Amino acid sequence: MAKIESWAKRSEGWSVVVHGGAGEVPSETAGRQAEGCREAAERAAVALRAGASVLEAACIAVQCLEDNPMYNAGTGAALNEAGELSFDASIMCGATLRAGAVGALPAFQNPIAVARAILEEDRWVLLCGEGAAKWAESRGFSRASAQAMITEASRARLSAVLRNGGHGGWAGGTVGCVVRDAQGHLAAATSTGGIVGKPIGRMGDSALIGAGTYADHSAGAVSNTGDGEAFMRTVAAKMAVENMRAGASKSEAIVMLLEEIDRRLGGLGGTISIDALGVLAWARSTRTMSWAAAAESWTETFVGY
Ligand code: GLY
Repeated sequence: MAKIESWAKRSEGWSVVVHGGAGEVPSETAGRQAEGCREAAERAAVALRAGASVLEAACIAVQCLEDNPMYNAGTGAALNEAGELSFDASIMCGATLRAGAVGALPAFQNPIAVARAILEEDRWVLLCGEGAAKWAESRGFSRASAQAMITEASRARLSAVLRNGGHGGWAGGTVGCVVRDAQGHLAAATSTGGIVGKPIGRMGDSALIGAGTYADHSAGAVSNTGDGEAFMRTVAAKMAVENMRAGASKSEAIVMLLEEIDRRLGGLGGTISIDALGVLAWARSTRTMSWAAAAESWTETFVGY
């Protein structure tokens, strides 16, 4: 069994936790990834201080991470076997259980913004592929230039995986955010390019409400990162929220989740959470996961990897 590291801290008022993906990131890069998480958490904190909703704050944080080419989301994300961007993203409102998600979305600057527009329209939950792209265009989003969003580093990672017969494991670097406001409303959001060299059309847990993302203000909010197939098979985000509802305290709910995924399926990854009482937590069974957390009642932003 992999060693699981975790952290938890109580907050009052609004609070936010972000992650920049579970993986095996070298310490020189992991430090910069943690600073990118700090920037995302602090942008969300500024918005919450100014009265933004939890959905707005979650989107601000995730868009900040999508725009940062260090992460596997938005600009700089993993490429599929055809060398294309194919994004998964999802967002959920804990007060209403409204949700929006995109799977295998072609190049758009901020996939989480498209997922949020699906949530706000409140008709569908998940749209995928060209259909999702056409729906987004019909709601005023513009396609992005794939060439402008693909980085040299993502091309190099794909070349290495293809040279290795398509084997490279999951990419890490998925991004996510959970937010609570002073009234106890919760939101969760996750965004990723998925796995380097994945087949055309593959969708992972980050596209699926209940697997990568879940929020229910009566229990908690969760965003996952890691071995997507294992997180889908265990409906991981919902399982963690149900652990919280059953009374798991501090980081127990997400530690239990990661133990189960490792024990049953050998899957590794990481999770961030906020429970209904305002306890913020992260846990990881990988060597690294960049993260940052801020709260109205704290005097500093906590950051790590
Ligand atoms: N957890 C991200 C993915 O598997 O696509």
